[in-house]
Amino acid sequence: MLLVQLSDLHVIAPGRQLSGFVDTGRLFANAVSAILGLQPRPDAVLITGDLVDAGGADEYAHLRTLLAPLPMPVYVLPGNHDEVGAFRDAFADHGYLPASGPLHWVVDTHPVRLIGLDSTIAGEGGGCLDEHCLAWLDQTLGTEPKRCTIVALHHPPFASGIVHMDRIGLSNSVAFEAVIRRHPQVERVLSGHVHRSIQRRFGGTIALSCPSTAHQIEFNLHDTHRGGFIMETPGFQAHTLTADGSLASHVIPVGTFSGPHRFHSN
Ligand SMILES: [Fe+2]
Repeated sequence: MLLVQLSDLHVIAPGRQLSGFVDTGRLFANAVSAILGLQPRPDAVLITGDLVDAGGADEYAHLRTLLAPLPMPVYVLPGNHDEVGAFRDAFADHGYLPASGPLHWVVDTHPVRLIGLDSTIAGEGGGCLDEHCLAWLDQTLGTEPKRCTIVALHHPPFASGIVHMDRIGLSNSVAFEAVIRRHPQVERVLSGHVHRSIQRRFGGTIALSCPSTAHQIEFNLHDTHRGGFIMETPGFQAHTLTADGSLASHVIPVGTFSGPHRFHSN
């Protein structure tokens, strides 16, 4: 199984640009083209939040148009820039999403089990997994203790070291980590939000954050830094189930690069 993870698309209405110069729609279209060129073609795509920038129905309509070329299943969960009502309306045809209540879900139709968690708090940048979510997660993981499992959410359950982002991080990562630690079949905890590729040990497994398909958060660890974004090479992640039953996670930059070139000896 090959699963592509996209994050933090921040798609806006057609013809507009984020901050006046970032064409998030075009950048996302570039990522879609890159996915269609992967060998082999991925079995599924997971998007870990901030699908659009301001949560408007026009933004979600643009996003659906941009997603249309992808022939494989696409699974979505919300980030702090998403608006839950418009998100639900935009993905009303996605049968794995619950019709009401928090947007937690499980997909059991692939060799790797996928669990999505809604870590958003309406009107806030930071996130939380409430008691009901953690109880649901614990119970859901308990039903399939032997299956390789991915748990995904928008907010990384760890400090990144980028102080202004950590101030809007996940508030109860300690309780979340205790649940994950009880279920060693969890191979990865996947997130977005920080617009960078970061890896951490977490609850006996590996937690990752994904680059943005658009703008990246500037790497600056000073606690006085006000924060900003930077137009580094965008990208996404690809998680492949290997023969030993575990996952290998790759970062795939999106752009125009020389090659591939054949190896040869002089
Ligand atoms: Fe974001």
